[in-house]
Amino acid sequence: MPLARPVVLGNWKMNGLRADGLALAGRLEARAAHLSGTVGIFPPATLLAAVAQRLSRSRILVGGQDCHTAESGAFTGSVSAAMLADAGARAVIVGHSERRQGLGETDEQVHAKATQALLAGLTVVLCIGETEAEYLAGERNEVLARQLAGSLPDGATPETLVVAYEPVWAIGTGRTPSLEEIEETHAGLRRHLAGRLAGGDEVALLYGGSVKPDNAADIMAIKDVDGALVGGASLDADSFWSIYAAGGGT
Ligand code: PGA
Repeated sequence: MPLARPVVLGNWKMNGLRADGLALAGRLEARAAHLSGTVGIFPPATLLAAVAQRLSRSRILVGGQDCHTAESGAFTGSVSAAMLADAGARAVIVGHSERRQGLGETDEQVHAKATQALLAGLTVVLCIGETEAEYLAGERNEVLARQLAGSLPDGATPETLVVAYEPVWAIGTGRTPSLEEIEETHAGLRRHLAGRLAGGDEVALLYGGSVKPDNAADIMAIKDVDGALVGGASLDADSFWSIYAAGGGT
C-alpha cells in the first residue's frame, strides 16, 4: 500500500545528542498512538539505533540521513544502507542538497545510494531541487527533470519511494516559492513519475524548504503535495506535530 497521507518527515540533520534525541522521540511517541498519516524522523546516525529502539512499539518511522553507494567495503567513516536497516531504520534520505551542493554528490552517486537502499529493504526519500541561480535563470523544471532522470532508482514503487522537492534556496532561509510555483512544479514532477514508474502517480511527493507551522496548511493543501520534509521545525515536537496536523494528520 502507498504511504498514508499526509507524509510528514523530520530531518534532524547534525543536531542532537543522546539525551535530547531520546527526549524528542519520546514526546513524538506520546502523540502518535494512532496515526492516520505517515510520520517519520531522521536522527543522526549515532542516535539511530537508540531512537529506533525507543520507538519500536510506535508507528513512527525512523530513518537514516544518508547511506553509501556501495554495499560494504573499505570506506572509512561511511555507513551502508544495510547497516542503517540493521540499526532499526526503515527509510533513508538520499540526494539532500546539503550533500549534493555541499559535498558535490552527483546524480549517479545518488542513484547508487538509492539502489543500495532498496536492496537493503529501506524506503528511499529522494531529494531534488534547484539552486537560486538556476531558479532565477528559469531552469527549475529542466534541473528537476535531469535530477530525477539521473537519480531515480529502478524498481521503486509507491511503497518504497518518496520524492521531496526542496529548492536549495528555500532550505533554512525562511523563504519559499509561491503556492502557484509549488503547484506547477509538483504537477510536472507527478507527470514525470507517472511516465517513468508503474504506480508513479501514487508516489508520495513532498515539499521541503522552510516548512513551518504557519505555512504548512497552505502548502500541504496544494494538489500533488502529499506532505512535507521538515528540517529546523522538526527539532521541536510541538512545531513538528502542528505541521503534521496542518496536513490533516491525526
Ligand atoms: P528546513 O530544512 O525546514 O530547515 O528549511 C528542510 C530540509 O533540509 O529538509
